[in-house]
Amino acid sequence: MRFSRLFFSLLLATCACGYAADVTGNWLVKQESPDGNIRETYFDLKQDGTNITGAMRSVTFDRKIQSGTIDADGKIVLMMAGQNNRPGQRIQAKFVNGELRVTMPARGGGEEMTAKRAPAGAGGPPAKIEPPALHKVKYNGLAKTPPMGWNSWNKFAGRVTQEDVKGMADAIVSSGMKAAGYIYINIDDTWEGIRDANGNITTNKKFPNMKGLADYVHSKGLKLGIYSSPGPKTCAGYEGSYGHEEQDAKQYAAWGIDYLKYDWCSAGRIYKDEDMHAVYQKMGDALLKTGRPIVYSLCQYGRAEVEKWGPEVGGNLWRTTGDIRDSWDSMTKIGFDQDRLAPYAAPGHWNDPDMLEIGNGGMTDEEYRVHMSLWSLLSAPLLAGNDLRTASKEILQILTNREVVAIDQDPAGHQATRASKNGDLEVWVKKLADGGQAVGLFNRGGSAADMSVKWADLGITGKKKIRDLWKHADIPWTAEAYSANVPSHGVALIRLGK
Ligand code: GLA
Repeated sequence: MRFSRLFFSLLLATCACGYAADVTGNWLVKQESPDGNIRETYFDLKQDGTNITGAMRSVTFDRKIQSGTIDADGKIVLMMAGQNNRPGQRIQAKFVNGELRVTMPARGGGEEMTAKRAPAGAGGPPAKIEPPALHKVKYNGLAKTPPMGWNSWNKFAGRVTQEDVKGMADAIVSSGMKAAGYIYINIDDTWEGIRDANGNITTNKKFPNMKGLADYVHSKGLKLGIYSSPGPKTCAGYEGSYGHEEQDAKQYAAWGIDYLKYDWCSAGRIYKDEDMHAVYQKMGDALLKTGRPIVYSLCQYGRAEVEKWGPEVGGNLWRTTGDIRDSWDSMTKIGFDQDRLAPYAAPGHWNDPDMLEIGNGGMTDEEYRVHMSLWSLLSAPLLAGNDLRTASKEILQILTNREVVAIDQDPAGHQATRASKNGDLEVWVKKLADGGQAVGLFNRGGSAADMSVKWADLGITGKKKIRDLWKHADIPWTAEAYSANVPSHGVALIRLGK
């Protein structure tokens, strides 16, 4: 008995030791990327016994700690509040000898970082700048057909360099992509440096000469795109355009930029979704004011019914979804979910279901043909996201299939709608400028399937020319219906003409 009492008090004493160490305070984790960018994350913690409450302030969001614990060894587990009813992140840390080490969550790279004590209240979002009242921004006359080109994010993310971009400009020409219509070379996030003494945005060391790069890209008959955010920081934690919209637009024009992707990211710490319209309008005005033709690409993940006001802020395209991944599930979940947005696509103004993953290795060639067919039927921007310098012949054949590209680039600018769905089998139809139709028969199932589409259901009465756009072959006319055996995770794409 006496022994167990002794054991118990010892245990208590040990625990008391652990709890005595108080992690209460505002803590800052600074992560430096190889290009010199510093990403700051604050953990504002309050310890009460074994419980921890408080908040986390990252570059793109502020989140409350829903529940947090610290054990006798200083091991900390924080359950963050989620967004839109989704579960929040679980963050682990250690507090030993007055030192806090945090395992940074997902976007932070999963590495264990030492936090430093920071002044109370530091790390909050800057004061809100009211955007100007709503008005209609004039159409810039660009993107009469969906933009085509290449974007750095899907393949390179934060590793992209000026040399990669130059290499991609060379490859887009030598691979035949340019001849097929791919013109824009778009640099996504992580080119940004700090602001100079006059508040001008600079590039970081991965992009030593943006003007020179633009000249190089232009010399190849191509166009250069860039990326920013209406918030103080981009999604990767680089300098955004908040409070510098006109200045940045001017700088882009001076460099010779032809396309801007403008990504919501940390604007969400300052503004609500209902402010998006006015916030995007501000950059729309700024771009127009430069006098340079710059395609304006809105990226706010399809929130706040962007398709209804995208054109009014001068937007040429707007993302309709969260980020695509290089998987069949991600691609099909996005692609087959675009039906309701069809009425909003028109020349100059496009729904953007995100960039292509074709050639990145996560899908089969058959699945990538589905990706290409579906995006073309949807009149989606065709922005390749793979390394064009090393793309295989098969992948280039998918991306440069001119008959499929012609469906995407059809001048009437209609977006396909779902004509039928029977389990895993879906038929999508797009009206074409010449009075014809493009029809995709998609098999999302696990085994090959016989599919057919009746002419009557497409409103077709007389005999038509049928062209198989992947086989590059005319198909003899058959009365009543078109039938095909479609492979698993595959497509038959036909064009019906006169
Ligand atoms: C967001 C966008 C992506 C990409 C990254 C860059 O996630 O949706 O397309 O631009 O930011 O940080």
